[in-house]
Amino acid sequence: MNCSTKRVHFGSLFFDVYSDVYEPAEDSFLFADNLDVRSDEKVLDLGTGCGILSVLAAQKAQSVVAVDLNPYAIRCAKQNAKLNGVSGISFVQGDLFTFLKTNVFFDLILFNAPYLPSEDNEMSSWIGRAWAGGANGREVVDRFISKVALHLKKNGRVLLMQSTLTGVNETILAFNRQGLNASVIANRNLPFFETLTLIEAKAKPENLH
Ligand SMILES: C[S@@+](CC[C@H](N)C(=O)[O-])C[C@H]1O[C@@H](n2cnc3c(N)ncnc32)[C@H](O)[C@@H]1O
Repeated sequence: MNCSTKRVHFGSLFFDVYSDVYEPAEDSFLFADNLDVRSDEKVLDLGTGCGILSVLAAQKAQSVVAVDLNPYAIRCAKQNAKLNGVSGISFVQGDLFTFLKTNVFFDLILFNAPYLPSEDNEMSSWIGRAWAGGANGREVVDRFISKVALHLKKNGRVLLMQSTLTGVNETILAFNRQGLNASVIANRNLPFFETLTLIEAKAKPENLH
């Protein structure tokens, strides 16, 4: 691992980002700007990276579980929680939901996913795996959607960041097939015909009893 770090600021918080860890970018900031967490909520932050969303969520939530495939991200996120004086976060290195028992549920599940179309070889580095979503960009997004309802409380919410390059309607339909209603709650235009899109999904009313 290359241990060099870069410091990134968000409001009064700051994050030291290791070179093998995703540096918070437009997608992280759009997510952070629209993150609304309640004090009684149990939050799962998948793909925590340097921990930016976990640290923000932990300032309000009852508890936060921060997960990442990348072991350096977990180390980095732990350090950033400490630097910002935030407690109440459990850190786990793992692949999406695979480490969770079947009877564990959350009020709020966050994922700033790897969502960009990519070549196979781009998934061979930790930084590549932070953004590369396979040939159509949907490899990790679709795996996430296929399991998310299994760990969501009845009245829970899912927040997923992706881009228009990955097919927003396809994502909304995929959530629908899992019994969740989904809609775009925020977006931000980038240069070259790409829009970042924050999608919220919740259980359909007919599934709430
Ligand atoms: C776009 S970055 C987002 C990082 C951070 N949440 C942020 O907003 O700045 C995506 C993160 O997901 C992680 N990741 C990719 N595939 C994963 C998987 N299958 N399970 C868990 N984490 C994964 C990457 O290592 C990376 O840290």
